[in-house]
This record gives sequence, structure tokens and C-alpha cells, in this order.
Amino acid sequence: MNKVMLAKNTYLLGKMDDREVPFHRLILAKGTTYNAYLLKTEKPTVIDTVDLEFGREFVEYLSELIDPKEIQYIVINHTEPDHSGGLAALAGRAPNATIVCTEIAVNELKEMYKLHSRSFLVVKDGDTLDIGGKTLKFKETPYLHTEETMITYCIEDKILFPCDIFSTHVATNAFFADEADFDIIEDFIGYYNAIIHPHRRYVRTVINALQELDVQMIAPSHGYILREDIQKYIDLYATMSADTINDKKVTIVYTTIRNSTKKVADNLKKIFEENNIQTSVFNADKSDKATILESIKEADAVFIGSSTKYADMIGNLEDVLKDLIKMDLEGKIGAAFGSYGWSGEAIEVIQDYLNQTNLDVQSTSHVIKTTGMTHVEFPVRVRFTPKDEQLKKIEHSATYVADLLLSAI
Ligand SMILES: Cc1cc2nc3c(=O)[nH]c(=O)nc-3n(C[C@H](O)[C@H](O)[C@H](O)COP(=O)(O)O)c2cc1C
Ligand SMILES: [Fe+2]
Ligand SMILES: [Fe+2]
Repeated sequence: MNKVMLAKNTYLLGKMDDREVPFHRLILAKGTTYNAYLLKTEKPTVIDTVDLEFGREFVEYLSELIDPKEIQYIVINHTEPDHSGGLAALAGRAPNATIVCTEIAVNELKEMYKLHSRSFLVVKDGDTLDIGGKTLKFKETPYLHTEETMITYCIEDKILFPCDIFSTHVATNAFFADEADFDIIEDFIGYYNAIIHPHRRYVRTVINALQELDVQMIAPSHGYILREDIQKYIDLYATMSADTINDKKVTIVYTTIRNSTKKVADNLKKIFEENNIQTSVFNADKSDKATILESIKEADAVFIGSSTKYADMIGNLEDVLKDLIKMDLEGKIGAAFGSYGWSGEAIEVIQDYLNQTNLDVQSTSHVIKTTGMTHVEFPVRVRFTPKDEQLKKIEHSATYVADLLLSAI
């Protein structure tokens, strides 16, 4: 463990982990660090902790700086156990501390660390917390990279604590990027690509929020602290998360009884068009099959949908699907969707057909395994006429595909 002062009464407590740590199905060849922070103010506050495995060590080390009983707040920006893991050891030794986190994080932390009887302070976007001599300001950053995530800014120190965002996976004894004996950019970009890029849409919200803050130092929870040329790193995130491609096409084909599936198709189209993706929609019962297949040949992503009637697809859709199996659709994205009443078999039958093509067929399982996102579902199953939550679901799935199409990485 290492400690270093970042500002008056603001300490970094970092644990270096120089193993080839297995993480998110990656091997971190260069290891990593878990950076936690202590703000030794009138109401002493810890921001994030370390990996579960090093929790006890962390508390011992923290105890050299402060009696844990004096700690008033423990801010948890992100519940993944590489940062919240130290809570298991710290919460017991810091009985007077209130845990500060987003609403979604409360239950996750209670369940993971048996903290059901603990006092929590739920913070929302823009809330501030006076910790006696310093003030913390919180910004919720949902889906960057998990749903409950937030970032914390210390107004007096002008330090941003963004947890996983702006991190690097390097086991380092040089705390600051400007003290490293090599250029950290490659590792900084490598980390972004591995952890942040699948969630790049949400990076833009953070960059906009940063414009209102005077950030003099970025103190993330892995790797180097950034204090020189900060704008360079922020600009890199902005560039890497921007859309890089703009000539993509989507084709949507559906069949319907009373237009609920058409509404799903139209809502998918709306999201794609908002992302400047040219989108063609066909009712398979009203369009010429050759025209549909021609459009699919030209498309970069293909959505096929039907409502369910007596446990099966309806109309001419099966004819189209049979032809898709014979076509070369390499490199294109495929997805199934449909409106249904109670069981939605048609949607699963379409998925089975798509799996017989050489489309890159989207599935919830694949999304979870590659990005950890649980709000994006494939196939897109919508009960009856799409409303409220169901419209959100359509939006999440279409946005996910738009992001795949518009990024070069
Ligand atoms: C005759 C009939 C049979 C249906 N059979 C099923 C079924 O087997 N399973 C199911 O989940 N929904 C079933 N439904 C419900 C429809 O799939 C649901 O109403 C859907 O929203 C219709 O979408 P659409 O307007 O796009 O056709 C049936 C509806 C009708 C009218
Ligand atoms: Fe994380
Ligand atoms: Fe992390």
C-alpha cells in the first residue's frame, strides 16, 4: 500500500496489484492499482475503497492516518468489488460512518456486504455534501460503466474522483501520470477501449458535466492520477467516444395483425434515424420480397419481427427468413423482435432462423458477457402495444445497435 497527499488533508491510499489480474475476462498483463481516497476533514470521508481481497490490509493502512471510528462518510462511486470490496472490512471498523451512494447502489451494497442495518445517504445528480471544510458534489453517471455509478468532485480541492472513468490498468509506483517514466497514453487508451468504449454514449454526458466544473486534478480508482494537461485526457475521451462513421443502413422487416409490431418497427426506426442511420421498414405482407431482400443485402443491420399468433409467426415472414439462410450476410448485425401477448413464441422462432444465417445475431447473453449491460435485451420482446417501459426497452436495444454501427472500434 502507498499513500500520498494530493491536497491539504486529501490523501491517496493506493494498493498496487502487480499480479496478472483476471478481470472482465481480460488478463491485466500490467496489473492494476486500486486507489482509495481519504479526506481528513471535520467529518472525515473515505472515497471508494480497494479490491475485496485487500480490504483488511486497506483498513490497517487507513488506520495509520485516522482512527476508523472517526470516519463520518464512506462514498461509494461504483459497487463493483474492485472498489467497494474494502467495505466488507471497513464498515465494521467504522461504525459511525454513513455510506454515500446512488439509490440503485444501496441494495447492491446491502446484499453484497450484509449492510442491511447500516445508515445510507442516497445522493442524486448535483447534490452536495458538506464534510466540514470541504464540499463534495455528486454527478450520477448511469451505465458508465454500470447502472449505479456516480462520480464525486471536491469543490475546494478541484479534484474529480471518477472511479473507473479516466483510469489505467498499470501496477505503478508513480502515482501521477507526469511522473511515469513512459508515456501513459497507450495504456490510457487501452483501458478506455476495454472498459469504457461499449458505454461510450454515456461518456458524452460526463464530458458535458465536466465543462461546468473547474477540474485541476483527476483522481481515478485505477492507475495514474492526472494533474498536468488534464484537458488532453478529457479531449481524448471525447474523441474516442464520438461517432466515427456515418454511412450505415438498417433494414427492418415485420408482419403484424393489428399494428403493434409495426409500432415496435417504427420506434426502432425513430431511434436509428435520430442517430443519422438510414432506415428502411417493410411490412413483409405488403412489400415485394425481392425488394426486401435487396434492401437487406445493402444493410449493415437487419431487424426481423412478427407478432405471435397461436404460438407462431404470421404472414409471409417465414418465406423471407428461409431466403436469408441462403444469403451471405457476413459482417451484418441481425436481431429479432416482435409484439406478443403472453408467450411470444414467434420472436424465438425468428431468433432460431437468424441463428442459422451468418448474421452477427444479437442476444442478451452476448451483450451481458461483452459489456456487463443488463438493460439491453435481444431479441426485443414487447408485450402488446409498446408503451412506457417497453418503449424504453426498444430505445435501449436500438441505441446499442446504433453504437455498434457508428463506432470504428
Ligand atoms: C388470434 C390471436 C392469437 C394469439 N396467439 C398468441 C400466442 O400464441 N402467444 C402470444 O404470446 N400472444 C398471442 N396473441 C397476442 C398477440 O401476439 C398480441 O396481441 C400482439 O400484441 C399482437 O401484435 P400485432 O398487432 O403486431 O399483431 C394472439 C393474438 C390473437 C389475436
Ligand atoms: Fe468497474
Ligand atoms: Fe474498476
